[in-house]
Formats: sequence, structure tokens, C-alpha cells
Amino acid sequence: MDRILILDFGGQTTQLIGRRIRDIGVYTDIHPADTVLTPELLEETKGIILSGSPYSVNDADPPWPDESVFDCGLPLLGICFGTQVMMKHFGGQVTSLPTREYGRARVVFKRHSHLFEGVPEHFASWMSHGDSIDRLAAGFDIVAESENGIPSAVEASELPFFGLQFHPEVSHCEYGNRILENFAVNICGAAKAWTMDRYIEDTIEEIRARVGSNKVLLLISGGVDSTVVAGLLLRALPPDQVHLLHIDTGLMRKDESSEVIRDLEQLGASHVHFVDASREFLSALQGIDDPEKKREIIGDLFITIQEREVERINVKDSYLAQGTLYTDLIESGKGVGKKAHVIKSHHNVRSPLVEEKRDRGLIIEPLDRIYKDEVRRVGRIIGISEDVVTRHPFPGPGLAVRILGEVTPEKCRILQEADAIYVEELKKRGLYDQIWQAFSVLLPIRSVGVTGDARHYGYVLALRAVVSSDGMTADVFPFPFGDLQEISSLITNKLRDIGRVVYDCSSKPPSTIEWE
Ligand code: XMP
Repeated sequence: MDRILILDFGGQTTQLIGRRIRDIGVYTDIHPADTVLTPELLEETKGIILSGSPYSVNDADPPWPDESVFDCGLPLLGICFGTQVMMKHFGGQVTSLPTREYGRARVVFKRHSHLFEGVPEHFASWMSHGDSIDRLAAGFDIVAESENGIPSAVEASELPFFGLQFHPEVSHCEYGNRILENFAVNICGAAKAWTMDRYIEDTIEEIRARVGSNKVLLLISGGVDSTVVAGLLLRALPPDQVHLLHIDTGLMRKDESSEVIRDLEQLGASHVHFVDASREFLSALQGIDDPEKKREIIGDLFITIQEREVERINVKDSYLAQGTLYTDLIESGKGVGKKAHVIKSHHNVRSPLVEEKRDRGLIIEPLDRIYKDEVRRVGRIIGISEDVVTRHPFPGPGLAVRILGEVTPEKCRILQEADAIYVEELKKRGLYDQIWQAFSVLLPIRSVGVTGDARHYGYVLALRAVVSSDGMTADVFPFPFGDLQEISSLITNKLRDIGRVVYDCSSKPPSTIEWE
């Protein structure tokens, strides 16, 4: 399939570039900055994008592309740092600006370019740079300048090389998608062949070819990723080859485990292995209030139970499927140029089972080329319920990191009830889908209240709701105050154990999404 290759110099928006181009219908792959373009890699590649970066091209050792990028004859598009790399490579000069150009900036054209086909004069771009082109590289012309008189687009006259100082991938940039489409489709000639239907068909065929008549084991957390993997496996293979294992830790949301089982059966699963390990988890957590210790206990116990069950259901030699996403495989930022293969397993544990299956080449990761929003689209197409497709992320250690301090069965029950009210109300009020993640946290303090004539000491419950695109950073959801008041009253009226409800107004950073 035609592909646009994105070289990652560690820019914060590299992922976004990939997603935008996929939304246009063209397949993209993100590779480390210094990737050597081998014939295999070039086979289906139609063009290359050089991303932004936290580095300056004038730093001592900035990430740099391999020579083959400039010699391979494919169209190139530099974005911010990527443009400056091109300038420097071809003999131009880049220097730092007296003041950074940041945020919205109008762009004015100096001449026509195919890259801007259909883009009107004076559109608002999005800038974020402290360096700028001081001297153009030979063979390049300035296509556009910002309202501040700074070069914002350049183009080579003889070669299909383009450079943007602004970020077309950022949603604030007007006509950004149009510019990226002009590059990928019109200039590179990439076919719009990337659709979720095609992805599903290809993936199903790949699963069949790899697995043959063997068994596949999948650990089901109940989240969208593992459920979508289950759906794909069940489309690809006869149900008796697909073994689904769900371990109820007792730290799940209210009724979550039974809903998970029901969903899997609706997808046609016949081997659902359900383990109620809630007693084991809750007793192992007794008396423990250190957050890291809690995580460790849960992780270790999870491995023990997992190994026991694998032995019991006799799937020792089967394949192991995982819900690893494309974003799990890519590490940017400090590790510029390095692609870390993050092993994502249930509860974030590098379990011996996963390691062993990986060593034996028995891991299947059907989502490892797609983004979270694409997973949701696949889920809808293969008939996963809307409830699961839109379900907010849930941490592996579950409610244990939302009950601050010691976890007890009673606190679990209280938090499950309170959270169920919160989530149900968000759904009823049409707020749930506007939020990346919403949940309740039970604090280890009691505060005074009055019920009737008596003073009553109830727990304090904190409500959290954040908007985010990937959980790496998050803003507080601007909760309509009336809704917040009503939800708070509903919770304190229904649950006597909760005496007070507060709303967490902290963004990430400096806070994290979870409380522990
Ligand atoms: P934080 O709290 O680090 O969370 O801002 C970012 C995202 O990760 C989830 N999270 C976890 N997920 N195991 C998981 O599988 C964990 O230990 C864990 N801790 C946090 C969190 O819910 C949010 O979506």
C-alpha cells in the first residue's frame, strides 16, 4: 500500500502528522530520524515528511536524517525543524530569532506553489519556532512569509522539496489538512487506499495465515483495545481456536466483569475463561497503603494467576494476542531516533508469559499499525457495542489507585457505587463523550456533615474529568457547574458513606490523571 514516511525528530506533533494524513486516507508510518532508506522501505513509500523537533539544527548533536533521504528522489516536506534541516543540508543558514514566533500567524504568499493549491491568501497558520531561515539554501525560493516578515514556506525549483515553518497538522492551522493532502496525494501521488474496511480485511487474512489451526489466547481487560482484538480474532478464526481469559481483580468498575463476558459472548466467543480472583487481590492488599507497593502486589498476583490459568486451560503452545497500539510502539521526545518496542501487557506487567511467547515468535498484535481513534472505528465496523467502543480508559491496577491509602472491600464497594452514579449521569447528560476520562476517587479522610440532627462523618469523594488526546497531557474538563452540583447531591443522597464531593481542577502537568 502507498505510504508516506514520517521521520521523527522528536517533535510533539509527529503523531498528529501521521493521524492527519491517515484521515485523508493515505497510510503513514513513523520512523526514527536517522532511518536509512533501504530498497524495501522505499518500495511503497511515495513521499517523506521531516517532522519538528525540540532541538535546534545549530545544537551540537541534533537528530539528523541519513543522506539517503535527500538522494532517494522522493518528494520531501519539511515541517518546522524539518525545513531547517533541509536548509542547512543544502547550504542555507538558520539562526535564532530575537523573539519566538508562536501561535496564530497570518501567512502571505509570495508566489504560487502546488503545495498551496486551493488555499486562499492570508490564511491563519500555527507557528512554534525560535529559529528561522536566515539564508535560503541554493535552489530554493520563498513561497510565503508570515505577517512578521519571516519565511513560512519554501520550495525548491528543480526538485519536489518543500518546507513549512508552521505546523499544518495542528488543528488551529487553517487549511492544514488541505496542505497535507496536496503533498501526499497531488505531489507524491499516494493513493487513498487506507480505509478501516481494508485494514480489517488485511488483518483478518494475516491472522489466518499466521495462526493456521493453532489456538490463540487473549487476556481481556474489558477496555476497547482488547475487546476489538477479540472481535478481530473471532472474525478470523473458528471460535474454538480463540481462548479469552478475563481475570476479575475485584478492582474493576461496578458490574464491569459481567458486562465484559456478555460482550464477548455477543461477539461469538465460545471459550471465555472467567476467573473471579477478587478475594485473592483484596486480601493481598490488606494493610497496604503505599501506592507503589499496591501496584507491585497487583502486578505480581496478576502474573501468578495468569500462569495458573494458562496451565489449567492448556494454552501453553498457543499464540498470544495483545492489544498493542501504534502509539505504544513509538517513543519520541528524549529518545529521538530510537524506536522502543514497548511491551504492553495487561496491568503493564512485563509478564514471563509475554516474554516467553515473544521469544518463540508467538505474539500477535493486530492493532499495532493503528491509532486509538482508528481502533474505535474498527470496533464499530466489526459490531462492538457503542458502550465498549466509547469506554474511557481504565488503569491496570483499577480502583486500587483510586482508593487512596489502604484498599478494603467496603471502600471498593463504596467507590464502585459512587463511580457508577457519576458515569451514568455523565452519559445521561451527554457529557461522557466530550471527556477523555472521568472517574471518582475515594479519599482516606472523613469530613463532617449533618444528616437530620446528627453530625455524621463521611468519606470525601473527588470527581475527576479531563480532556486529552492521548493521556500524555490533559486539561480539566470545564464542567457545567449546575451538572456538577446535581451529581454531587445525587451521590451524597444515595450513598450515606460519602459526606462530601469535591471536583479536581488540576491539569496534567503538573498533576497526573490518576491520583496515585
Ligand atoms: P497518569 O495518571 O499517569 O495516567 O496521568 C495516564 C493514563 O494512564 C492510565 N494509567 C494507567 N494505565 N496501568 C495502566 O494500564 C497503570 O498503572 C496506570 N496508571 C495510569 C491513566 O488512567 C490515564 O489514562
